[in-house]
Amino acid sequence: MLRVRVEDLRPNMRLARPVPLPTNPTRYLLQRDVCVSDEMRRRLAELGISEVWIRCDELEFLETVVDAELGERQREIYSCIRRNFERFMRLADAKLDFESFRSSLSNLFDYLKNNTTGICFLDRVQVFDDYLLTHSTNVGYLAMLLGMKLDWYLIKERKSLPPGKAKEVISLGLGCLLHDVGKMRISKEILDKPSRLTPDEMDEIRKHPSIGYEMVKGEIPLVASQVVLHHHQRWDGKGYPRMLNSQTGEPLDVLAGDKIPIFGRIATICDVFDAATSKRVYSDAKPSVQVLCEMLRYNAGCFDPVVQKAFYEIVPAFPIGTVVTLTNGFVAAVVDFDPKHPCQPRVKPIRYPDGEPCRYPDNREIDLSTVDLTIHFQGDVDVRPFLFEVAEAAGTPRDESRLSVSSPVLA
Ligand SMILES: [Fe+2]
Ligand SMILES: [Fe+2]
Repeated sequence: MLRVRVEDLRPNMRLARPVPLPTNPTRYLLQRDVCVSDEMRRRLAELGISEVWIRCDELEFLETVVDAELGERQREIYSCIRRNFERFMRLADAKLDFESFRSSLSNLFDYLKNNTTGICFLDRVQVFDDYLLTHSTNVGYLAMLLGMKLDWYLIKERKSLPPGKAKEVISLGLGCLLHDVGKMRISKEILDKPSRLTPDEMDEIRKHPSIGYEMVKGEIPLVASQVVLHHHQRWDGKGYPRMLNSQTGEPLDVLAGDKIPIFGRIATICDVFDAATSKRVYSDAKPSVQVLCEMLRYNAGCFDPVVQKAFYEIVPAFPIGTVVTLTNGFVAAVVDFDPKHPCQPRVKPIRYPDGEPCRYPDNREIDLSTVDLTIHFQGDVDVRPFLFEVAEAAGTPRDESRLSVSSPVLA
């Protein structure tokens, strides 16, 4: 099966996975094996669905790599968050049902613990009918995955706890699921404003971590509520909110480095990545490779280096199943992720430059790290400027002439 952008769907392409209804992801809008008509393609786009999995006989093994159960667990969380947030917006006295969040996160954790493909970010919830819901779900999932990868670091950074407790990631997932809950108290006009925000509007948005913290404080474990408060702090101290002395109201020192709770540091990088790879009212979704590259080149110092290194080991620059065009014009599908060569994955050619299906031996898999060939396009984006090296992801100093003062990801 292949991951195909909805705008690239062609008649007669058959769905490899059912497409869930955005408003109720436990039900399906389209069933597996349906051939997608033009009318269906328009409907999918209207509903904000960005990608679907389609059948490709030679890539059926991806069915087992990108396991359908992962999608089910993610949708369970999405539905839970949707139910809760909608009730909360509708009813003035509604309370968030934190226990239901915890239980759906536990199900996801059990799945991740037992899955056979190792810790790797494989798939995300792919809808855009409500950014806050999908973003919260994706950040919760990604942060739990990263927390599992960093279990040794959690033990080191949470020394006051016994190791078994220190590496427990459900509270991390819970905090991340709720990290932007304060945005429900910020006006929609500001949140969805398509043009540049005024300084006053920016100040308003920057209140959401503190507002969210007040909403969840005492209802969820302290470490989870700290994620809500601190997910916009930066390792170099350039984040917010500025902390105040609770007695005097005086500003305290800037929160930076390992003074930021470790769960907050994990949430930060997952939040930035998911926001930049998601479609927004004011911007299109960027490919993962572009965002990972920009985070390295323009956001140096924002993230805990240990967390950042682990992040690049679990998040593929080219998600498995992505269709790309190589520099020789062949169209190919990405079939694996090797953190040692993030931008030179193994690919399987599927079409010649003239659009004809590839035949043996041209359809044999190619390890791009061993040949003089690179990925040229993902969709219509020329990704060559974003192909980064693993040394950069591991924090090796870069050529300074490539650094820019602007910050395209965090801006
Ligand atoms: Fe936020
Ligand atoms: Fe966020």
